[in-house]
Amino acid sequence: MARLQIEAVSKRFGATDAVREVNLDIADGEFMVLLGPSGCGKSTLLRMIAGLEAPTSGRLLLDGRDITDVAPQQRDLAMVFQSYALYPHLTVARNIGFPLKSRRVPRAKIAERVAEVAATLALTPLLDRRPSALSGGQRQRVALARAMVRDPGAFLMDEPLSNLDARLRSATRAELIALHRRLGSTFLYVTHDQVEAMTMATRIALLNDGQIEQVGAPTELYDTPRTTFVAAFLGAPPMNLLPATVVARGGELRVLADGLDAPLGIADTCDDTPVTVGFRPERLRPTTGVGAVRGQVTMVENLGSEEVVHLTVGDRQVSARVPRPAGVVAGGQLALSVGPADLHLFHPESGQRLTWQADVPDPMTARTELPVA
Ligand SMILES: Nc1ncnc2c1ncn2[C@@H]1O[C@H](COP(=O)(O)OP(=O)(O)O)[C@@H](O)[C@H]1O
Ligand SMILES: [Mg+2]
Repeated sequence: MARLQIEAVSKRFGATDAVREVNLDIADGEFMVLLGPSGCGKSTLLRMIAGLEAPTSGRLLLDGRDITDVAPQQRDLAMVFQSYALYPHLTVARNIGFPLKSRRVPRAKIAERVAEVAATLALTPLLDRRPSALSGGQRQRVALARAMVRDPGAFLMDEPLSNLDARLRSATRAELIALHRRLGSTFLYVTHDQVEAMTMATRIALLNDGQIEQVGAPTELYDTPRTTFVAAFLGAPPMNLLPATVVARGGELRVLADGLDAPLGIADTCDDTPVTVGFRPERLRPTTGVGAVRGQVTMVENLGSEEVVHLTVGDRQVSARVPRPAGVVAGGQLALSVGPADLHLFHPESGQRLTWQADVPDPMTARTELPVA
């Protein structure tokens, strides 16, 4: 069992607020990913949970027990770092068994447990080697095995795949997902890589400048980003975001900007209201009609499976991810369609999602009553 509760935890380094009043309740058995750009406080938060850094304020609870001031070794947690930090002079077997040896577990018991864990991670044939005779992926598995050997309640991992090449990273992602399923332990995993977060997490906590922007299932963050920061962080290319105005035309609401005229699919009236409108590149489709989005193509990237078309809409850049061949070339004009359900509206200053769900009232949307996304 390992439920982790982070209660109003802050960390200050001199004048830097690395982590600011973070609240997060991680259920037993979750695969929680702390995601965010470099420097947003992910490692600091993880290190506080591991006990390697003391919070400036706030509390940490493990299964309801306050562990804020408990020594790292006394927390039922295991940490896996980006650099594997294996002992170069010890064999794989002795590296894996090290945490047990330092806890004075009997030798026979250590051998038994090392064999078990090695089998789980397909390391059995490598037990007699030294780290220098292993590939990056194998070393990473040894580091994982060393964390698993104690059978901790929770695993804390800080960018453990970032030193692996792309192919190995993808394979190890799949292994971690399988491992999590098999062990049923709580995983708390730090990364700046949205693909890792989207593919592995049961929930993502997206951090920005020491604060949590949004917590939820990967699809929740992707489909209903709560802020423009979340919208712009996820997706490749990320969501297009443009300043626009919601207007009523002929009894229907539309969102307008230079090169953009898209119906919101609602019959209503309203005063002209400035917004930030968002739409994902993969939701745009070339059309022979007038098109909701119109612009001049600046570049076409061929991804093999599809193409990313970059275009100038008004004075903004927009990207569209379209099936191949799109049949467009740089310099040409392009019209694209987008459905009302694929439009996201945000407050032009705060960047907060203008939601039309009853539980998050907003003066503007309460009036316009946009449909549930
Ligand atoms: N030991 C430290 N002393 C001073 N500043 C630090 C220390 N550790 C981290 N920071 C600062 O705290 C902020 C968050 O850092 P970090 O948690 O490492 O971010 P991330 O892991 O998301 O890249 C950064 O501005 C970083 O420079
Ligand atoms: Mg870090």
